[in-house]
Amino acid sequence: IANGVARTPPMGWNSWNHFHCNISEATVKTIADALVSTGLAALGYNYVNLDDCWAERNRDSSGNLIAKSSTFPSGIKALADYVHARGLQLGIYSDAGYYTCSKKMPGSLGHEEQDARTFAEWGVDYLKYDNCNHDGSKPQIRYPIMSSALLKTGRPILYSICEWGQEDPAKWAGQYGNVWRTTGDIEDTWESITSIADQNNIWKTYAGPGKWNDPDMLEVGNGGMSVEEYRSHFSIWAVMKAPLLIGCDIPSASKETLQILGNKEVIDVNQDPLGVQAGKLRSKDNLEVWAGPLSNKRVVVVLWNRGGSLAPITVTWKEVGLSPNTPVTVRDLWAHSFVSRSMLTGLTANVAPHGCKMYVLTP
Ligand code: GLA
Repeated sequence: IANGVARTPPMGWNSWNHFHCNISEATVKTIADALVSTGLAALGYNYVNLDDCWAERNRDSSGNLIAKSSTFPSGIKALADYVHARGLQLGIYSDAGYYTCSKKMPGSLGHEEQDARTFAEWGVDYLKYDNCNHDGSKPQIRYPIMSSALLKTGRPILYSICEWGQEDPAKWAGQYGNVWRTTGDIEDTWESITSIADQNNIWKTYAGPGKWNDPDMLEVGNGGMSVEEYRSHFSIWAVMKAPLLIGCDIPSASKETLQILGNKEVIDVNQDPLGVQAGKLRSKDNLEVWAGPLSNKRVVVVLWNRGGSLAPITVTWKEVGLSPNTPVTVRDLWAHSFVSRSMLTGLTANVAPHGCKMYVLTP
């Protein structure tokens, strides 16, 4: 879609994974303030995205969507002004159906142009468009209508196609939107992130500047996984060029959570201008090597131990596309240090159970 946005994967926060329908303008303002005060905004997390349940159950007499007065009494325009004043951008949520997935607010089916105009007038910068409670027609019919409606407003609005991988969206959604979900909803569990990583990996060749596979929003900091597991979740999402949408309550986030989400070296991999999605190179006995190219002939490698005990994982320069006798600098992105430069053909690292090592190789 020629809307000029998402040249690198979008970064920010979304209300769903932590708050579900329990959102209000007060909460969202607190999150926006926390993005700034923690330094996350300066690292690139600039979208503040409302998910389901922000609107009244019914439209007004002219058919317009209206913010829920009990939770968003100042309205969405005021909220957009608030986040814009802090250098952030506002995202909103609707659905290519009659009701959203919660059934607590209307969807935009049949109201696409009207709603796109409303969002643009409010100063919205991002639309996540869900796929519940529709008329039974294919997403390939319903999603392009909102795409055109957004373009017609003249405001660059990032368009997130959330049809959960139903109709192989990688094959068509890049024409209409900037990101598309490749799977069902993420959960805050190890099983969920490993299975989503594998499903999302299949579509890697379809990603690129302006159009990204979306393995769903981050669960880092929501409490269901260990620090090692969250580090793996964040590392793999980063190399898959996934949108990095924080899904926790930032003001109450632990130091470990902020360290994971705030790892600038990992973020730089996700935001690399080359925009190539890394993939799984090999997997044996739950020990995996993921790799992909970065700008300036660099390579990112993740050694991922999905097994239950500490284990060595080896990678050779040859298998990641570097010629075997090239000297490479090896940067460990979690230790924030350089590994010895004397190894010429590859490296072996001991990787913690459910943990990973992440390196950038510079020839
Ligand atoms: C669907 C989406 C989720 C979330 C909920 C809201 O399940 O996939 O990401 O937006 O709807 O109801």
